[in-house]
Amino acid sequence: MPQVQEFSQRSPSGAAHLFHRPALASSMAAQLMSESFKSGLFLTGPRRTGKTTFVRGELAAALRDEHGAFVLYVDLWDDQKLDPGVAIYRAVGMALDAFDGWGVRLARRIGLKGFRLCGVEISLERINAGQVESLTTSLQNLTRVTGKRVVLLLDEAHRCQTTELGRVALHGLKAARDALLLTPGPGFRFLATGSHAHKLEHMVREKREPFLCARTRSLPVMGEDFLHWQSGLWEHGERPSLAVMGASFDRLFHRVEDFIEVCNSVRAIAAIDAGEAERMLVEQVDRWLANEKKVFAEKLIAAGPLATAFLYLKAERGSQFAPHFSGSHERVMQLLSLMGETAMQPDFSMQGVEATLARLEQLELLWHCRIYVIEDARHVDWLLEMELSTLFATDRRAVKAA
Ligand SMILES: Nc1ncnc2c1ncn2[C@@H]1O[C@H](COP(=O)(O)OP(=O)(O)OP(=O)(O)O)[C@@H](O)[C@H]1O
Ligand SMILES: [Mg+2]
Repeated sequence: MPQVQEFSQRSPSGAAHLFHRPALASSMAAQLMSESFKSGLFLTGPRRTGKTTFVRGELAAALRDEHGAFVLYVDLWDDQKLDPGVAIYRAVGMALDAFDGWGVRLARRIGLKGFRLCGVEISLERINAGQVESLTTSLQNLTRVTGKRVVLLLDEAHRCQTTELGRVALHGLKAARDALLLTPGPGFRFLATGSHAHKLEHMVREKREPFLCARTRSLPVMGEDFLHWQSGLWEHGERPSLAVMGASFDRLFHRVEDFIEVCNSVRAIAAIDAGEAERMLVEQVDRWLANEKKVFAEKLIAAGPLATAFLYLKAERGSQFAPHFSGSHERVMQLLSLMGETAMQPDFSMQGVEATLARLEQLELLWHCRIYVIEDARHVDWLLEMELSTLFATDRRAVKAA
């Protein structure tokens, strides 16, 4: 279900277990409300670095409290089964409905009896048949009934590209943005987030994309003040130095939750000296990373040698990845031979390659929507430094023994 945050006005920014970045929230809110960002802002950042927590909590609060905006937050990750397009239409509809049926009355006036945007089953057919109020009309009405500038925060916006209705909704939002820019009134702003810079960049660089030329910005990773905050939570024993904490945070790819968990596990051990605390922190990070790499290797084994070779090729070639090119197939054969798969005769037909890549998508190792992207940026280095010759060795031994 999409979440409409405006109605729980209590800002989560007071949550004690969270580290706060009020200055960043204020400056980003001011930017988003400025003329220079009227085409939209696409905020990127690696996985698990705190984008959602920041946008949904502190940024939304700054937009409301410092700029009097009406904030709509839609999380396209929340319900994976819900079409992203439906989520967007519904969120806007729910916000309108909450205003005392004003949207309903308006819909009746324009002749759609009993029309209630969020109660209507939203489908491509209904949208095409004009049975669903356009996002332009809905958002115009929302600015009118609230008397405020509406700011839509769309989390994991790249998911819109994965369905037709999602793309329709994006085009609808673009049309709404353009219409609201021309209409006198409080106006509209749009912020999209995504955990992969390439996925989002595609949305603002491609000529056919509705948000071509919108601004992009990466969410700064947590800095030294965050390390100070964590260090301040040490109650017993000596704490590790900020330098060791910082290096550990870097090694964990700035994944906030992972770092906090590692720190918690060291903190739980009372009365150790600083040197010991540092050694334990480094050990815990090693253990954490070893476990993550093990999980990744297990996924590759599940994907099989051929799919692994294609993923490796993607890691090597980056944006030059061309899975249907014969030169790529030669490299795949070399990689298979490195893995000890000398007898394999892969199906390099269009369908054969597509099926292999689909396997990687099913395992959430690869993302495909016009461009191919390795889902987890950490996997690129992990793959390239992997000992391919031993990866499937246990598997082969098991087959021989059977
Ligand atoms: N400011 C913060 N203070 C403390 N913990 C945080 C903070 N921000 C994030 N976290 C922790 O990190 C986890 C991941 O954060 P969040 O979901 O915001 O990241 P994300 O970048 O949106 O992740 P994803 O790439 O999966 O969308 C949270 O569940 C929370 O445990
Ligand atoms: Mg998120």
